[in-house]
Amino acid sequence: MSQGETLLVTGGAGYIGSHTLVELLAAGHAVLVLDNFSNSCAAVLDRVAELSGREVPWVEGDVRDTSLLQKVFAEQEQRGTPITAVLHFAALKAVGESVAEPLRYYDNNVAGTLSLLSVMQQFKVLRFVFSSSATVYGEPTALPYVEDHQIAPTNPYGHSKAMVEQLLRDLCQAREQFTAITLRYFNPIGAHPSGLLGEDPHDVPNNLFPFITKVAVGQLPALQIFGNDYETPDGTGVRDYIHVVDLAQGHLAALDYGRKQSGFHAFNLGTGRGTSVLELVAAFERVTGAAVPRQWAARRPGDIAAAWADPSLAREVLSWQARHTIDDMCADGWRWQSQHPDGYRTASPSAPVRGDPAT
Ligand code: NAD
Ligand code: UD1
Repeated sequence: MSQGETLLVTGGAGYIGSHTLVELLAAGHAVLVLDNFSNSCAAVLDRVAELSGREVPWVEGDVRDTSLLQKVFAEQEQRGTPITAVLHFAALKAVGESVAEPLRYYDNNVAGTLSLLSVMQQFKVLRFVFSSSATVYGEPTALPYVEDHQIAPTNPYGHSKAMVEQLLRDLCQAREQFTAITLRYFNPIGAHPSGLLGEDPHDVPNNLFPFITKVAVGQLPALQIFGNDYETPDGTGVRDYIHVVDLAQGHLAALDYGRKQSGFHAFNLGTGRGTSVLELVAAFERVTGAAVPRQWAARRPGDIAAAWADPSLAREVLSWQARHTIDDMCADGWRWQSQHPDGYRTASPSAPVRGDPAT
């Protein structure tokens, strides 16, 4: 692994970005985080610094602010540590909200990416790792999803990811030295095994796992299980849950690959195994000893019965595969939630090593 790169990490204070920072720093890279903290806070970056024993410089700002980006790239050049690659996590991600406020989603997710890519072009930064989603596939024509499955998202959030993928394809056609690695995440859950980092939804969670942990910690009364009559072994929805640390490590593999290879490349990041809602709840209760009261509810509009990845392309090409089990995901997710019932508003057990705001 080559050392000493300076990586711009947009959305680095978020759930997946923060776990990825830990892996990037452990691999010897320097990072610069750009985040508008619309769905996170700077305290996350103190935790990353504490875990890594490294500085985590950050800039509070928006990826749509093109002149701020120009300033950030120019300053890094002047310091003699030019940005050599960008990992782009910054986005809005709530499907229901995207249906209600499509323009906000396209502006943040698509216009934000355009702003970033235009400044990268200006500063001749040629490597881009993009946080895409399995949601770009839409209703499965066959399972598991392979990367050349049709792209047919069913909501504005999914369309915003598919649009960025298309503009990356087009950019790679036009600029033969440019590299865009698109990572299609399946269902990231769990937390850093230290218990210091985890998912911290500000409102009632939309996704299953954070809902389970909020019920288990007593902040929500009961899990609603959306549907018991799907064509799945137990009638509940099946998904490919992946430990967030495995997902984070996938970004290192993508960066390495992008160093050797130009063009557009898309990879599924999943485990290749499906788990039903009932199986996940049962595993969580067994592993943690915590109870998850639940009740049946109607199917959630727009949900599909089952979705899981064929992760073999990432295994063969990136030499990456998910290693953690569902039990690991439950144990680590519960450690974070039970130690931090109020997320990052709960004090860290030890004194943080502070990262510096970079501007
Ligand atoms: P998150 O909300 O925890 O992190 C996103 C971060 O980006 C936050 O810190 C937020 O403050 C920041 N941000 C948002 N818009 C910004 C902007 N315009 N400028 C600067 N910063 C901005 O979400 P996450 O779960 O960590 O997701 C990271 C990425 O992965 C997103 O692109 C998301 O769409 C994608 N993704 C997530 C999942 C999932 O289940 N969590 C699944 C598939 C894909
Ligand atoms: C959701 C998003 C998807 C995104 C993915 C990332 C929707 C419609 N889709 O999908 O775009 O890429 O997260 O992680 O939001 N469930 C319950 N009760 C709950 C919550 C969920 O029974 O309170 C069930 C769902 O019906 C589903 C399973 O749990 O069968 C997983 O749901 P969720 O965690 O929301 O993930 P996805 O449906 O895959």
